[in-house]
Amino acid sequence: MLKKYSFSLTIAVITSCIITAFVSLLIFYLGSYQPIISIAVFLISFFTIWITIIIKTANVDRKIRKLYHNVFNLKRYKEASIPEYIDEISEQVTLLSQQKVKEIDVLTERENYRREFLGNVSHELKTPLFSIQGFLLTLIEGGVEDEKIRYKYLNRINKSVDRLGYIVKDLDMISELESGKIQIAPKSFNIVAVTQEVFDLLEIKAQKQGITLQFDEEYNNIKVIGDLERIQQVMVNLVVNAIKHSNKDNTTVTVSFKNENQNIQIAVHDNGQGISQEDQQRIFERFYRVDKSRNRKKGGSGLGLSIVKHILDAHGEKINVESKLGEGSTFYFHLKKI
Ligand SMILES: Nc1ncnc2c1ncn2[C@@H]1O[C@H](COP(=O)(O)OP(=O)(O)O)[C@@H](O)[C@H]1O
Ligand SMILES: [Mg+2]
Repeated sequence: MLKKYSFSLTIAVITSCIITAFVSLLIFYLGSYQPIISIAVFLISFFTIWITIIIKTANVDRKIRKLYHNVFNLKRYKEASIPEYIDEISEQVTLLSQQKVKEIDVLTERENYRREFLGNVSHELKTPLFSIQGFLLTLIEGGVEDEKIRYKYLNRINKSVDRLGYIVKDLDMISELESGKIQIAPKSFNIVAVTQEVFDLLEIKAQKQGITLQFDEEYNNIKVIGDLERIQQVMVNLVVNAIKHSNKDNTTVTVSFKNENQNIQIAVHDNGQGISQEDQQRIFERFYRVDKSRNRKKGGSGLGLSIVKHILDAHGEKINVESKLGEGSTFYFHLKKI
């Protein structure tokens, strides 16, 4: 670019010199005027052309500087040379367009995600709602007269209402966690005691499936720092999943604690169906369930692990999974100990 620019400038200067010299010589040889006048004409026309060229180039230069300054708002434009601006402008334009392409990709992905999310929410809410409608209709159409049917259907309605309640509660929690509204309130607590409370809460559920909840060894008091209620929620979600996905009877769900430098590793282990490598990448997404048929038998909305992930994110920690199909799964995370 610069080469083109200086080449045109040189040609313009040489041409102007030749023309002015030629005009002056012509006037001088024709002898119509004094030589002094010819020289004056030569000088005037020569300088006029030069001044025009300088003004023009200065304008171009100023315009480019101004464009450069406006577009990129850089102060150092004063020191840069024209080809540098141009190189940098094209570099910046390339960068900007790459950035825009990336932004469009992210927005498209988000839009797809949002659409999928809304579809999932509506699906999750519709299922228990339709059940309730069906049961109510049966009762209204005469079922209410029969005590047995009445009891059975009211019970089912009650279960569907519970399910709706859980989904709405989980959705509330997810949206609060995602909007960053929930602030974690870290304090020190005994993680063994918290886990024991979770075991007490889920004992009956586990027993119904022939599952024993246990620690891998005797623990006393392990003090950690975190938000007690939220960590309790993490433990509930992980233990519920372990119970739910332990297929076999007479099996165990085991919680273990391991010292790791400043941290405690907390692990929930089951001998259940396991999760494939492919699904392990996705189970922390909202509504993702390995069981694509969305089998109601095991319940769940597919929000549990997403909530776990958010809560641990807020603690600056990660949830990890190790699992083998048919052998079982271990979900583990860390908390700072004191
Ligand atoms: N311990 C586990 N063993 C096998 N699969 C599991 C386990 N925990 C979670 N999963 C799989 O991950 C999916 C997502 O879990 P989660 O978010 O808790 O949803 P939900 O339990 O409501 O289905 C489950 O549907 C299940 O397929
Ligand atoms: Mg779950």
